[in-house]
Amino acid sequence: MGELDGKVALITGIGAGMGTGIAEAYAAAGAIVVGADIDATAGRAVMERIGGPSSFVLGDVSRVSECQGLVDHVVGTHGRIDVVVNNAGVTKSLGFFDVTEADWDRIYSVNARGLFFLMQAAAVAMRDRGEGGRIVNIASIAGKGYRGTSNVAYAGTKGAVIAMTRVGASQLARFGINVNAICPGVTRTALFDQVIDELVERLGGTREEAEARAVRSIPLRRANDPADIGALAVYLASPAARNVTGQSWNVDGGLHWD
Ligand SMILES: NC(=O)c1ccc[n+]([C@@H]2O[C@H](COP(=O)([O-])OP(=O)(O)OC[C@H]3O[C@@H](n4cnc5c(N)ncnc54)[C@H](O)[C@@H]3O)[C@@H](O)[C@H]2O)c1
Repeated sequence: MGELDGKVALITGIGAGMGTGIAEAYAAAGAIVVGADIDATAGRAVMERIGGPSSFVLGDVSRVSECQGLVDHVVGTHGRIDVVVNNAGVTKSLGFFDVTEADWDRIYSVNARGLFFLMQAAAVAMRDRGEGGRIVNIASIAGKGYRGTSNVAYAGTKGAVIAMTRVGASQLARFGINVNAICPGVTRTALFDQVIDELVERLGGTREEAEARAVRSIPLRRANDPADIGALAVYLASPAARNVTGQSWNVDGGLHWD
């Protein structure tokens, strides 16, 4: 018996990094995963590798109508939706004076607006079915003021995720819907590689130096693997976490303490 046996879970941004790690952990725990991404080639390859009853769906969470479409697809295919993991997110390494309106809109449209409207669409389906549900939002220690964060707009979206997790938890509790957030620290993914490259371009030095600097600042001297996030995401959707809601959990090797 897996901790998530038979649960139907929608996970966004499964084509790379953390989303792939979370999808693998959910499938290993017995969940039926519907994995969404804007990158059809990468997303389909991940979900085909996972196999079983799990499947891929194309979807862009920055479009509110597509958030509703993703939930309709899951409910239409499997009859219900038990869990949503709001993982899709974007950023760009940018100094305070370099953030443009276009950067702001792109980052907010995915990380904050998309995340909220997917929560809302899923919560409607969970409420109407009457059997509760779980929402897991991927925030970041950037949303708690971690000083190593470069992009102020990105940090703002992650602070918004933490606040929406708390208010969502409060307003959805009476429907048996638990809402929690995970705040990863430095995590080895494509996004991490992209930020390191952008840092080197902006500030000079080598890739190796930039990576070593990032890891040296972590008390446990270890960056996360996506599986570290997958393990906590499984717990938050499992029966063991039935009385846990409104929390934002750091997974970061001790990099940032609340
Ligand atoms: N990597 C880190 O160090 C780190 C740290 C803290 C938080 N996070 C957060 O973790 C989450 C996952 O990050 P990652 O590092 O795995 O990123 P990644 O770039 O490696 O993967 C993100 C995936 O999301 C998909 N995606 C992007 N925009 C989308 C959209 N509009 N709709 C659907 N899918 C979309 C991409 O195609 C990609 O497959 C993000 O929310 C990110 O902000 C990452």
